[in-house]
Order: sequence, then C-alpha cells, then structure tokens
Amino acid sequence: MLLGKGLLGIEDLERSEIELILETAQRMTEIGTRDVKKVPTLRGRTLINLFFEPSTRTQTSFEIAGKRLAADVVNFSASSSSLSKKESILDTAKTLDAMDPDCVVIRHKVAGVPKRIADVLNAPVINAGDGAHEHPTQALLDMLTVFQQKDRLDGLTVAIIGDIAHSRVARSNIYGFSKMGAEVRVAGPPTMLPPAIEVLGVKAYTSLREVLDGADVVMALRIQNERLEGACFPSVREYAATFGIDRAKLRYAKDDAIVMHPGPVNRGVELSHDLADHRPSVILDQVRNGVALRMALLYLVVGRPQTLRAQE
Ligand code: CP
Repeated sequence: MLLGKGLLGIEDLERSEIELILETAQRMTEIGTRDVKKVPTLRGRTLINLFFEPSTRTQTSFEIAGKRLAADVVNFSASSSSLSKKESILDTAKTLDAMDPDCVVIRHKVAGVPKRIADVLNAPVINAGDGAHEHPTQALLDMLTVFQQKDRLDGLTVAIIGDIAHSRVARSNIYGFSKMGAEVRVAGPPTMLPPAIEVLGVKAYTSLREVLDGADVVMALRIQNERLEGACFPSVREYAATFGIDRAKLRYAKDDAIVMHPGPVNRGVELSHDLADHRPSVILDQVRNGVALRMALLYLVVGRPQTLRAQE
C-alpha cells in the first residue's frame, strides 16, 4: 500500500495502513536485539536524510534504521551545502533527486515543505516533521509504544498536555489515535489551544485534573519555544505548576497510566525530573521504537515485500 508513495502525514493514512506499519514495526524490533543488527533487505538502496531543522532522535533513528536494513544512508548537511550560496530548497532537492535516491526524508520548519518537495521529486518522500503541521513517524512510534504497553489502542483514553497549538506531534497523534479508536483529549493554557481544535474530534480542557481523569496515556509535549511569537503563559514556574506532570498530578489519571514525551524534555517544566527518568514513563521505549518503526516504514516504502519473508 505504501510502496513508492512515501508518507507526508497521518491524516492521509487509512486505519489498515497504520495497522500494517505497526505490525511490521513490531516484527522489526527483534532485529535490534540481535548481536548483528543488520539484514540485507534494502541492500543497494539509497536513503537521503534532508534535515533543514535540528534533530537528534528522528535523524539518528532514520540513519540507524536505514543502516540496519543495509541501505546506503546520506545525511545532507544544510549548513555546509550550496544553500549557503543561495541555492533554493527546491533546486537543492531536485539536485539530490538527480542522484537517484530511493527515498528522501525531509524535516523543515515551514509546514507544507515536504509536500512541495514531494510534488517535484521522483523519489518517495517521508515527512520527518514540518512546522506545526505533522510529524507522522513520531505518532506511529508513539502508537507502537502504547500498543506494547496496553495491548490495544481501541478504547483507550489518551490525554495530550501542553503546547497543542504549535505541536506537529499533537496533530499527528490526534489523527493517529483517533483513527485507531482511542478517545483523544487535549489540555493546555488557553493561548496554546487552537480555537478550532475540536473539529479534529478531540475534547479540549484547561484543567489538568479533568483531562487526566480516567486517562490511560498521559502525553506531555515540549513547549515549542522556537515557534512562539510571544509569551503564551505568565512564567515557566506557573506553567510547571499548572500543566507540568509530576507524581502527585499523575494520581488524577488511571492507576496504570503511562507517561510519554516526544523529547527533548524541558525537565522540571513539562515533566518532573523523577517522571522523566522513571516508570511509568516510557520515553526511552519511544526512542527505541523509533528505530524499529522507521525500519518498517522504509521497508514498506522502498523495499520489496518478498525480501523480508525470504530471510525468515
Ligand atoms: N521527537 C523528535 O522529533 O525529536 P528530535 O527533534 O530530536 O528529532
């Protein structure tokens, strides 16, 4: 279903496609436990990571994912490229496409840039985060992590807390968890809640106690300082007191609720130090699953279906 198409957003996916990606990613997790963490599935294929915005988790895990599948991975460095000679982003992308990559992974601070580039490239494009629009692979690895912890997504209550307005992670997770049958709630300071967020099928709260009541999953978001045009809350101290998650506030959620964060964490603001490091936080499971999930996606977008089966 995804072969040759790429992935620009969760909004574009059918539930069956999400299920296929998650099932494939679950199978890929085993490769990461082997002594030799490499299979020849994408041997001879070339992946270009085209990141115009900083990243630790997404870029590194796409690189590791490609290498574990034996693809050749090129990390394009924007700062040392001909962008510094005023070459346009589209010309840069078309130039790289002329080198016949099999997939291009793109992150950009402006919403819509991966789609604009995908429209002119031969290679399939995977969106690694565009502005406040979508971060589809983050949402997929989040769904994989929740499924591993809860054995289901259907019927769960997912509370997403924080900077909803500027968060591509929030938007992709709202689409994804809703398509998979979960109830999604959001909460944050009124200045961080988009006015029309309920058209996405979520309920918006400004009370942490209410949004957490009965939640199975508590997802804290990073405050997107780089996308804020002015102060959205009176002080960091007040934000932490009102919307920061610590063990005392976590008691409002279900006893077996898990805590998630896409990273990087502003410690002591969105999450207490204790919750950033200890269960029920699953932050490092999210990171680990990022590799398996991106292996699955590369395999489904670039690979040939028979190749994985042939290795078993
Ligand atoms: N979650 C996430 O996208 O992290 P990076 O910015 O480090 O890739």
